[in-house]
Amino acid sequence: MSYPTRGHYGNFSYRGNCSGYLIKDILNYYRPRNFLECFAGSGTGFDVARELGYTNSIHLDLNDRFGNFNLLTDELPKGADLVFSHPPYWDIIQYSGKDNMWGKEPHKDDLSHIRDYEEFIQKLNLINKKVYGSLNTGGRHVILIGDVRKKGKYYSIIKDMTWYGELEAHLIKAQHNTRGQSKKYTRYNFIPIAHEHIMVFVKPHV
Ligand SMILES: C[S@@+](CC[C@H](N)C(=O)[O-])C[C@H]1O[C@@H](n2cnc3c(N)ncnc32)[C@H](O)[C@@H]1O
Repeated sequence: MSYPTRGHYGNFSYRGNCSGYLIKDILNYYRPRNFLECFAGSGTGFDVARELGYTNSIHLDLNDRFGNFNLLTDELPKGADLVFSHPPYWDIIQYSGKDNMWGKEPHKDDLSHIRDYEEFIQKLNLINKKVYGSLNTGGRHVILIGDVRKKGKYYSIIKDMTWYGELEAHLIKAQHNTRGQSKKYTRYNFIPIAHEHIMVFVKPHV
């Protein structure tokens, strides 16, 4: 999949945002009755959902705009047919704190401030499990997440995280407009990361 532009959805200056066209395609394809978005960020999913006529969709983020909702500690509303989530890619872009995207201080439960990779994965698992638990039977969790390279080491978040539900689809999305694209590559990291993963997990009927 490739979306070179992001459309007039959300806020283009919110770093690490995603294209609204991706969320639009997902909603138009699956047509969920109840849509919930985790890690709503700058409101890309919110704007798409309203444009498509959703009046009941729920959008949650730790930032002020989406209710300071803490996915690690707060209870998720139950009953979604589809949850879209776009978590931080470990600490590659930091969200809370001065000079970042929101707030004066880093928030203690902001996933993008976790330095230790194992701890990041463990907390992402907690959230993924919670999302799965909140789905209706037959519902889907669509997660958009990238890979990370740090100090020459490659981290595959999708490989390391626990998968909840049955994998229905794994899509590769070309990455556009990232700061990494302007980076000079050395012999240690000469292959740029130019893709992200979209994984669709279904909660099967038993
Ligand atoms: C990759 S961004 C999402 C961008 C969004 N898709 C957009 O287009 O604007 C990840 C988001 O995760 C949020 N976040 C980090 N830790 C969180 C937590 N514990 N609970 C809820 N949201 C969290 C950050 O505030 C940030 O907005």
